[in-house]
Amino acid sequence: MKGVILAGGNGTRLRPFTTIINKHLLPVGPFPMIYWPIIKLKEAGIENILIITHKEYLFKFIKLLGDGSQLGVNLSYQIQPSAGGISDGLLYAEKFVGTDKFICILGDNIFEDALISYVNEFNFQEKGAKFLLKIVENPERFGIACIDNEKKIIQSIVEKPQNSKSNYCVTGIYMYDYKVFEYIRHISPSSRGELEITDVNNMYVENSVTKYDILQGWWIDAGTPETLFQANQLIYQKLKKEN
Ligand code: G1P
Repeated sequence: MKGVILAGGNGTRLRPFTTIINKHLLPVGPFPMIYWPIIKLKEAGIENILIITHKEYLFKFIKLLGDGSQLGVNLSYQIQPSAGGISDGLLYAEKFVGTDKFICILGDNIFEDALISYVNEFNFQEKGAKFLLKIVENPERFGIACIDNEKKIIQSIVEKPQNSKSNYCVTGIYMYDYKVFEYIRHISPSSRGELEITDVNNMYVENSVTKYDILQGWWIDAGTPETLFQANQLIYQKLKKEN
C-alpha cells in the first residue's frame, strides 16, 4: 500500500507562525511536525510516500527530507496550487496512487496508535474505505460520525456539527481505494469554499463499503496553538517513557 501526506492548507488557526512558515514544519517534540506521519507510515511498512504541499514551501520540504532515504522511506512530492481543501489536495495524488489502495494522513494529526493492524485489515478489505475514529470532547470542531456499534458501520458523517449527539471524530487518517478520485470529482465546494473530505467520505458511506476502527491511544489535531502545545507535551512524555 502507498501513503499520502497532506501538508498544504493555510494554517490560519496557527497565525502568526503560519504567516511565514508552513504548519507542518513547526516543531513537535524534537522534529518538525511532518516527521511524525512519515514515521507512522514507515512503522506500518509503508515506504512509498507522497507529500502534497504548496509551491511556496516545496523547496523547504525537499531541503529537509530530500528523497526520504535518511528516514528510510521513498518520498515524492506534488504541488497543490491553492488551499482548496483536503479533497482538492488529495486529487493531486491520483497519478501516484494509480489503481492501488492507499492511506492518507493529514500532516497535523499526531497520534499514539501503531497503524500496522489497521493497514493490514484494509489490505484484506476488497474495496471501499476505512476510517479511524476517536472520541472527542469538542465534536463541533471535527467531522463527526454516527455509527451503528452492533453492525460496525458508519451511518453518516457531519462536518463540524452544532449540538451533535455523537462524539466519534473521523480523524485525519483515511484509507481509500482508487474510487476516491471519482468521488472527489463529484463534490462541490462547501460554504467555507473548500472541497470537504467529509463530502467524499459520505459518498463512500452511501455507495461503497465503509469500515471503521476506534483509535486506542491519544490523538491530536495539532492545528491550533493549544493543541500544538499538547502534541509537544504528549510526544515528549512518550519519548521519556521509551528511554
Ligand atoms: C479536518 C476535516 C475533519 C477532520 C479533521 C481531523 O478538519 O475536515 O473532518 O475531523 O480534519 O483533523 P479541519 O482541521 O480542516 O478543520
